[in-house]
This record gives sequence, structure tokens and C-alpha cells, in this order.
Amino acid sequence: MVTQPIVREFEADLTIVAASEVATDVLALTLAAPDGSALPPWTPGAHIDLVLGDDLVRQYSLCSSPGDSTQWRVGVLRAPDSRGGSKVVHAELRERGTVRVRGPRNHFPMVRSPRYLFVAGGIGITPMLPMIADAEAAGAEWRLVYGGRSRASMAFLDELAVYGDKVSVVPQDEAGMPDLDALLGSPEPDTLVYTCGPTGLLDAIEARCAASWPVGALHLERFSAKASDTSGGTAFELVLQRSGLTLEVPADRSIYDVCKAAGVSVVGSCLEGVCGTCETEVVDGDIDHRDSILNEEEKASNEFMMICVSRCRSGSLTLDL
Ligand code: FES
Repeated sequence: MVTQPIVREFEADLTIVAASEVATDVLALTLAAPDGSALPPWTPGAHIDLVLGDDLVRQYSLCSSPGDSTQWRVGVLRAPDSRGGSKVVHAELRERGTVRVRGPRNHFPMVRSPRYLFVAGGIGITPMLPMIADAEAAGAEWRLVYGGRSRASMAFLDELAVYGDKVSVVPQDEAGMPDLDALLGSPEPDTLVYTCGPTGLLDAIEARCAASWPVGALHLERFSAKASDTSGGTAFELVLQRSGLTLEVPADRSIYDVCKAAGVSVVGSCLEGVCGTCETEVVDGDIDHRDSILNEEEKASNEFMMICVSRCRSGSLTLDL
């Protein structure tokens, strides 16, 4: 058996070189290495982990330019229903001066296309900024529909203004919700749809694309787990190929938990199938995918799974762990 080298991802304390309120309740943080050294490369759609405290890790999309390796920028919305992450970012990070960062990782990569339709809701604009810059540089046709509660709450409108009428700004208090039937009612040829925003918006876009757009046209990134049927978990055997261990995963525990308890090195963050941190290569077994990240094609490939939520339909699962 050939043992694969474990590639450790970047993890470091970065200096907060700028923090500014770019819209109501939206703080933009610019981060750099303390010695000014280059940060790892990334591509549009990538996110980083901010390690905000013990067991408090949150993911934020990079919204700077991949061409600038000296600085990363993220935009953080102060969420009223925050489980603590955005509150810490808004209330404490400026004073701390540094923040532990892991990544970047990209589960929302751009696929080359002659045409793009970008739809952003609220803070979902952040991954779109490098994406539209990339589409523009590549000479692709594109347009962005950007919805939000009000202009004051919509971040980065100034940066988007340079794109003129390619960008439609739809503040709810002035114009209501984006007209998704008009946007997505009939598929446009050779067009990929990229969207990020609140669950309601993404569910509505997903339903419209499923009705008439080609498979693979829609690419979306969720902030929180998609509502799905997670009932009916059964126990199964778990074989960890590199560790040489065979474990039992009971019906009421996750693969991630069982591995941790057995002392196997696994990394996780959201533990609800949203961030992609725990993605693991599958060697054998019929996966019961329960995450909100992989698209249908990726799920069907049976190559990777999110071990914090996904399970196994066959009696035995072998992982590259
Ligand atoms: Fe976030 Fe598993 S830990 S997807």
C-alpha cells in the first residue's frame, strides 16, 4: 500500500491591518502576515477559517483579489442570530489585532464559461467580488443581480459601481425581491449561474434551476445547512485504511465523532456539512451524502464525503484515513 503524504494546510496568526464598516453591520477585515510575507494562493470562491476562540471557528469568503498575495480581505455580517462568531469579530477582533487563520479552501470554484449569471443576497456578495473580476478579466459575458434589505445594508456597492449596468442592485425597501422568474424562468444558453446568500433565496433559485436549467448550470454556496432528511441513520463498519483501524459507527454518532474518540486525526469546523473542512477521500462504500456542499455530480462520483454529517448506505465504508 502506498501511503499518501499528509499535506498540512496553511495556519497562522495574521495581523488585522484594516477593519472598516462597509455597510450597516458589515465589517471588512484586511489581513496580512506579520512579516509581510506572501500568503498562500487562492481562487475566486475560496473561503478561510477564522479561529475566534476554543471551538469557535467560522468560515468567511475571501473578497479581495487573488492577484494580491500580500493581503486577504473578508466581509463579516453581524448576524442577529449569531452563535457567537460574528459577534466576536465585530466586538473584539479590532482590539486583539491578530486572528488565527486556516485555509484557504475552495468548495465554490468557478468553472470556465462564456457567460455567467451571478445572484447575490446580502453578505453573499463577498465570493462574487473576485468571481466577477475574474469573469471580466476573462472577457466573459456576465451580469450580477444583488439583492439586500436596503442600500445601507449592502456592502461593496462602491466597488461594483465600476461595472455599470452589468450590475443590478435590488434593495428590498425600494424594489422588492429580485424577480427570479424573470431571471431564471427559461435557461440561457452556455450560461452558468453562481449564487450565494440566505437559505430562502438559494432554495428558490435551486428550485427554478432544477425545473428547466441543464444539470450542472447552477453553482451555489450556503452559509447554513440545507434542510434535509437526516433521519434513518444506521450503524455501519468503518475501515480506516491508512490507520489500519476498523471501528463501529453507531446510528446516533457521526464518523467524525467516532474517529476523534478513537484518537484518529481528523479536522472539522462547522460539523453541519457546510464548510468542507472535514472532506475525506472515500476508498470504498456506498455514501449517504447529507452535506450542503457537494453538487449532484460530485456526490455521484463517490470519491469524497463530509464525515461530520454523511454516512454509509452499505454495511461497510473504507476511508483514506
Ligand atoms: Fe464543516 Fe464537516 S466540519 S463540513
